[in-house]
Amino acid sequence: MRIAIGSDHAGFAAKQAVAAKVAAMGHEIIDFGVESSEQRVDYPDIALKVARFVAGGNADRGILVCGTGIGMSITANKVRGIRAALCHDEFTARMAREHNDANILAMGERTTAIPAMLRIVDTFMHTDFGGERHAARVKKMMDAEEDSGRCCTWADCK
Ligand code: RB5
Repeated sequence: MRIAIGSDHAGFAAKQAVAAKVAAMGHEIIDFGVESSEQRVDYPDIALKVARFVAGGNADRGILVCGTGIGMSITANKVRGIRAALCHDEFTARMAREHNDANILAMGERTTAIPAMLRIVDTFMHTDFGGERHAARVKKMMDAEEDSGRCCTWADCK
């Protein structure tokens, strides 16, 4: 597979370790930076590059790392077609693929140790989407992109 990867300064060390692992698994890596932990960037700049690249069909999946993974996942999910999942363990990584068909994995270097991240990545890369009942649920999520600006009153939403 072709995997787009990126981090901000807070996720740089983990991003390097994850990229090496994914490459060793035989996948092609497209690295959107940063180039060092000294290169301070705003996480949305990297998240948007990776998410748009994946959404455009240029990579099969993406992996994003920042301090917590929160900013990366929130930003990536603003891009049409992206299902970014913030995962903290192998269980959430498996569910993200099996139930949610996540196409981007987000993790936090300040919240998750690098050896655990490598196990999360392994699970994310090796788990297929379950389809069946999950397919209809994923379709509902993605259909919501069509009217993502819609707001409800209490009466409308109940
Ligand atoms: C950077 O200090 C930090 O805010 C960022 O890496 C991330 O944790 C944001 O969600």
